[in-house]
Amino acid sequence: MISVSAPSRAFASDNAAGVHPAVMAALQSANAGHALAYGDDRWTAETNALFKELFGQQSQAFLVWGGTGANVMALATMLGPAQAVVCTNWSHINVDETGAPERILGAKLIDLDCPDGKLVPAQIEEQAHALGQMHHAQPGVVSLTQSTELGTVYTAAEIGALSETAHRLGMSVHVDGARLANAVATAGGTIEALRSMTVDAGVDVVTFGATKNGMMYGEAVVYLTDRFAAAAPYVRKQVTQLPSKMRFVAAQFNALLHDDLWLSLASHSNAMARRLYDATRHIPDVVFDAAPKVNSVFPHLPAVAIKPLQDWCFFWDWSVPVNQVRWMTAWDTTDADVDTFAAGVREFLDLSPAV
Ligand SMILES: Cc1ncc(COP(=O)(O)O)c(C=O)c1O
Repeated sequence: MISVSAPSRAFASDNAAGVHPAVMAALQSANAGHALAYGDDRWTAETNALFKELFGQQSQAFLVWGGTGANVMALATMLGPAQAVVCTNWSHINVDETGAPERILGAKLIDLDCPDGKLVPAQIEEQAHALGQMHHAQPGVVSLTQSTELGTVYTAAEIGALSETAHRLGMSVHVDGARLANAVATAGGTIEALRSMTVDAGVDVVTFGATKNGMMYGEAVVYLTDRFAAAAPYVRKQVTQLPSKMRFVAAQFNALLHDDLWLSLASHSNAMARRLYDATRHIPDVVFDAAPKVNSVFPHLPAVAIKPLQDWCFFWDWSVPVNQVRWMTAWDTTDADVDTFAAGVREFLDLSPAV
């Protein structure tokens, strides 16, 4: 149907991408001899030091298996009895973790309507009415995602204002940073940008994503102060997030954090989304609500086009009632992938216009 062959890398998700060669080489080189398990190895010591360089000497990083587990572990250390998590209706913890937070934490998620995926301080203030009411779960943790599930990005000032409000009301702040790298890249791509939206903004705990940015598996839960860190070693094990052969998670991180590779990969991924947007936004019947800030775009397509295009080169539906889909780029997306995909979309819509 479409004369162009589909690009070899599709636009389904950044976790559909493979492993960066430097990360793969690091895995291979860590595979020599024996090393003590559970983080008592030289690779993990190096990762811990690298995270301190990123987030400051006061911080402590804990390596884990995956992103859902990272969020569950972070929240498990942060929540007190009868406390609830305030989050957005779009948040991964709310919609894409199969209820793991509710099941494992035994806590309520208060999911608030956020059309752009971002909480605002007034929404936290509104939750304060429950504080001190014995019939209500007590809002204890504000969880935000940076960059968000909708491809939007909080400014450092916005996170600072949320943290200030949360702390004033006795709550703490968790950042789901599965795509924190993409947010930092779009905010300037420097360690200062990372710090300004995390440590300096008053965030308590960050989950630092890596699987979507060139690693095979593994993420980190980073405690930015010692407020919740004391329980972290025990809770990590309890929630099944303590990797036994931790050197292999650590070795990957050491490659990713070396020479700011994590930032250049995220920045490339963001640039590919921008290229994709520019290459498709003038195609009749492809409608965008906004230009991309990070590595995803969310076009509306004619309903009849979606399935054939997905069959040609797969991507996910986003909001079926409004014919919206998600195209996501990755660290390994090439200019040619984008251009080929855009050419296929153009050809298909020329052949099958919406009306
Ligand atoms: C915002 C966000 N948080 C966390 C995750 C972690 O997911 P996983 O458990 O698949 O590593 C994802 C993965 O899609 C995500 O998009």
